[in-house]
Formats: sequence, C-alpha cells, structure tokens
Amino acid sequence: MSLDLSQYIASYPDYPEPGVLFRDISPLLEDGAAYAQATDEIADFARERNVDMVVGPEARGFIVGCPVAYKLGTGFSPARKEGKLPGETQTVTYDLEYGTSSLSLRKNAVKPGQRVLVTDDLLATGGTIEATIELVEKLGGVVAGCAFIIELNELNGSDKLKDYDVLSLLKY
Ligand code: PRP
Ligand code: ADE
Repeated sequence: MSLDLSQYIASYPDYPEPGVLFRDISPLLEDGAAYAQATDEIADFARERNVDMVVGPEARGFIVGCPVAYKLGTGFSPARKEGKLPGETQTVTYDLEYGTSSLSLRKNAVKPGQRVLVTDDLLATGGTIEATIELVEKLGGVVAGCAFIIELNELNGSDKLKDYDVLSLLKY
C-alpha cells in the first residue's frame, strides 16, 4: 500500500529566518516505510532514464541520493560546500532562498557521457540544483533527470529546469 508522503513533512514558519516557511523532511526520514517509498519512487524514475551515476548537493542531497544510488547499483558523488573536498575540484557559486553558497565536485566524479541523476530533498529557487547541474555538465556528464522530495511552487525553481526531466514527489 502506498503512503501519503505529505503526512511525513513538518512545516516551520519563520525558520531559519523571518518570512521563510521551512519544509522539513525529518519525519519522513525517521519512518522506514516512508523513506523507502520516497527512495523507490526516485529510483524508478532514474531507472527509466538509464541513470548510471547519482550526484547530490550537501547536505540533504546526500540523504536522498545515497539510498537511491544503492538501489540502482550506481556510484554516488557528493557536491560539497566549497573547501570540503580534497584534490582537484570544480566549483560554482549560487544564490539561495536565504543567502549564497558555493558547491564543488571532484573533477573525476563524473565521466564524460555518463548519465547522471541529480537529486536533493527540496527545490526552492533552483539555485542549488542549477549549480549541481552546471558542475556535472562541466565534467561532461549528461543530466538524465532531476529528482526532489519537495518542490516549492511559489519560488519557481522549475523555471531553471525546463530543459530537464524533473520528478517532485510533493509540491507546495
Ligand atoms: C537547502 C535544501 C536544498 C536547497 C534548496 O539546502 O536542502 O539543497 O536549500 O534551495 P534552492 O532551490 O533555493 O537552491 P541548504 O543550502 O540550506 O543546505 P543544507 O542542506 O546544508 O542545510
Ligand atoms: N531550502 C530552501 N528553502 C527551504 C525551505 N523553505 N524549506 C526547507 N528547506 C529549504
């Protein structure tokens, strides 16, 4: 039986700053069946697109992407906040709903032509996923799909993803 995943999202007004309604996936992660269902739905989407690598941005993109990669039998590479990865990296700076940030990916993370799923917990303005996509494409990867547990409609992040296949399990 399929669960209503919206029952596993908590909402916090004015966090982490006034005016932001924070959508928290913690209750979903804390429920084995809900976490498994979200993982399975994203893995099915990826399998249909012949994904052979998963990339997710720090920090919550790791929590979503790693079990999906395990399900698919692919590798996972973390796009980390700048300064956290050793060796040769590619870095991109981007705007967030609150503030700015930088993400880096190991230069060897993605091989040219590899079909990559980029995945995160939540799509807000789209800055984070756009930066992740840019990193993958700079390394020669093909973004085969983008997947989120939550998409926030009013921040129009999907406008940045018009050229990509997108799965959002829940929309607000
Ligand atoms: C949050 C969230 C997404 C991003 C979405 O991460 O987990 O990665 O913001 O926002 P956007 O679509 O406007 O870019 P955050 O940058 O807060 O980092 P964290 O996961 O380390 O808390
Ligand atoms: N990341 C960016 N905006 C967010 C929001 N409103 N809730 C949870 N995570 C976020």
